[in-house]
Amino acid sequence: MEFDFDTVIDRRGTHASKWDKLERLYGLAGDDALGMWTADSDYPTAPCVIETVRRAADHGVFGYSWDHPAYLAAIRWWMQFRHDWEIDTDWILTSQGLGHAIACCVTTWAKPGEGVVIFSPVYHEFALKVNKAGRRVVECPLVREGDSYALDLDDAQSRLRGDEKVLLWCSPQNPSGRIWTPQELCAVAEFAERNGLILVSDEVHHDLVYPGNRFVPMDVAAPDFRHSTVTLTAASKTFNIAGQRTGNMIIPDTTLRADMKQTLRKMDYSPGALAIDMITAAYSPDGARWVDAQIAHLEGNRAVFDAAMNAIPGVWSMPLQSTYLAWVDFSGTGMAHDEIERRFREEARIAVSPGPGFGAGGETFQRINLATQRARVIDAAERLTRAFSDLQ
Ligand SMILES: Cc1ncc(COP(=O)(O)O)c(C=O)c1O
Repeated sequence: MEFDFDTVIDRRGTHASKWDKLERLYGLAGDDALGMWTADSDYPTAPCVIETVRRAADHGVFGYSWDHPAYLAAIRWWMQFRHDWEIDTDWILTSQGLGHAIACCVTTWAKPGEGVVIFSPVYHEFALKVNKAGRRVVECPLVREGDSYALDLDDAQSRLRGDEKVLLWCSPQNPSGRIWTPQELCAVAEFAERNGLILVSDEVHHDLVYPGNRFVPMDVAAPDFRHSTVTLTAASKTFNIAGQRTGNMIIPDTTLRADMKQTLRKMDYSPGALAIDMITAAYSPDGARWVDAQIAHLEGNRAVFDAAMNAIPGVWSMPLQSTYLAWVDFSGTGMAHDEIERRFREEARIAVSPGPGFGAGGETFQRINLATQRARVIDAAERLTRAFSDLQ
């Protein structure tokens, strides 16, 4: 095996949110607790990225930096090579991660009190960012259809009152890993256009797609709506470098781009030099080979975990098309969510992301991060099997 995703690494004591906050957030003290919540990975990033960090450390000078043409060219290459998406390097603005980018989009294009549309269940920070900025969340539930989610745009339309300004769209969807079809993406873009919404397509999970599925960027599916579309991407999830706090807003439209440049200028934001070097190294043929190996590893994790979950009566793990975030429904157990959570925490001693936090539709779910070593996934599956053994 050329790349190692299986050597267990102890991240405790490294300021790792997922592991060092277990006691504070979940009351889970002790070395046996498992962190399977926030969306980063427990294995090291690609060797080409690590090599870049080593070179920088050997050089030893970490002063101010500016102008990053190689970084921009690497992003353009990656989008073309991995996603068949032709972008211009002028379209790329760098943010301090995508949480920051989402907040910037909300405050740039919606005024206090105005509406921001989201389709739930969805990444919990969408609603949190909107609320924190004093804008109004307009939550439009997705519909359960077969073993996945579907859009109900007529229902969404009926929820708008006319003062909405932004649509925060998640593609692939976190949670559920749903990959939207080009037809669905066009329908969303038309919906946004019809309602005068700036369409912000958060595509951070676009690289971790399982064989047999094809991710299509919003801008590829719906190029006619480019004048009002902003795409958010990052190497953070793909390469496990989220701690470097760097993401991108890809904005083809000059007016929207000028708006966003103004927002970033007001904050005096510029990216960290080491992060830029790491991402430049990641978006390369060597990086791509590592990502392919990672997807194969995650596919194995997912198979082991889903088999164990689906063997518990009343429990069902949604088949993932992408992402390392299992989305597991406990509604068939008939148990209250508090009891499900208690069993995760007290009996299995596993910290996961509770479904209700993802909004309407998440009430009976738990989101479980599988981006870890196989041994940990097997351990988690066995603990959960035991925690729900009374249902057998
Ligand atoms: C859909 C989505 N957008 C944004 C983020 C946050 O990105 P960042 O860590 O760069 O702020 C996440 C993190 O889990 C995410 O899943």
